[in-house]
Amino acid sequence: MNQPAFANNNKSNGNGNGNGRKAGRETVAERTEFARDLHAGLARRPRSLSPKFFYDAAGSALFDRICDLPEYYPTRTELGILQDRAPEIAAQIGPDTEIIEFGAGSLTKIRLLLAALDRPSRYLPIDISGEHLEAAAKRLRADHPELEVQPVVADYTMPLVLPSRGEHAGRRVGFFPGSTLGNFSPDEALSFLQLAQRLLRGGGLLLGVDLVKDPALLHAAYNDSQGVTAAFNLNLLTRANGELGADFDIDGFSHAAFYNAPLQRIEMHLVSRRAQVVTIDGERYEFAEGETIHTENSHKFTVDGLRALAVKAGFKPTAVWTDPKRLFSVHWLSSPAAQ
Ligand code: AVI
Repeated sequence: MNQPAFANNNKSNGNGNGNGRKAGRETVAERTEFARDLHAGLARRPRSLSPKFFYDAAGSALFDRICDLPEYYPTRTELGILQDRAPEIAAQIGPDTEIIEFGAGSLTKIRLLLAALDRPSRYLPIDISGEHLEAAAKRLRADHPELEVQPVVADYTMPLVLPSRGEHAGRRVGFFPGSTLGNFSPDEALSFLQLAQRLLRGGGLLLGVDLVKDPALLHAAYNDSQGVTAAFNLNLLTRANGELGADFDIDGFSHAAFYNAPLQRIEMHLVSRRAQVVTIDGERYEFAEGETIHTENSHKFTVDGLRALAVKAGFKPTAVWTDPKRLFSVHWLSSPAAQ
């Protein structure tokens, strides 16, 4: 469902982090961006690559499977909160609102809200993958004929120009579920929240983020027993081989995910199992045994930490909902009309 804009990860089913995923055909521009970022990422030390490249068709399908894993609690826990607390959430949001979903993807989580909201005037799902978004919007219109659904194909981490508001458009409410915010760096997270705060003045943001917890639970969620997360991580190399003609030996790398407690984040890496050379487009990259490519950070938050970040971005945090085990949190951040 929701993807980091970085996340054009349009999920093909309804489970995910709200980051919609794409159907599978990469454009020349996307291939070029992947090539450029991969070369740059392998040239720097430590080596790294943006998690946005996880989400080709195979990666999106793997992410869908992750969302259903017994160890991966975030998706089902957030859905549970949205379902159980929908009346309270709807009361905070108020009537006649215009809903803007960041990284909307398959438009699954919004359905839980729409069932509870009082006469939303318009719904603007934003996603980078237009084809996928339009198909999902069509399905939503069929189920909610009274609702104006106007998809916006855009990168929501950049300043946005939204369709002009009709006479009766209510105050703007943002929806950003799935803890996609956690895949941003702290600076990117603040920039996104600042941008959202400006866009949503007079309304607010409903934000889902994963919470700090027992590292053993986090470890299990990113090192599942079926190896789906490992396959998701290694798929980056398969994608590089298929799209860019790289010669990664997939068996020559292994998945590693661990909790970095001081930085409050899960880190995912691809670890070279032996000394080896990889060639991409005539460029040779030497890997020492144990050297890694850092592929993802998934930041975890405390309720107070998230609220402090929101205040820094100009929001006024009010309500917060969590599950009984306090695994996940959903925040209502109000955006003052004028400052
Ligand atoms: C998309 N995002 C919120 C997921 C997460 O948990 O950070 C991506 C993921 N990576 C491995 N498993 C799931």
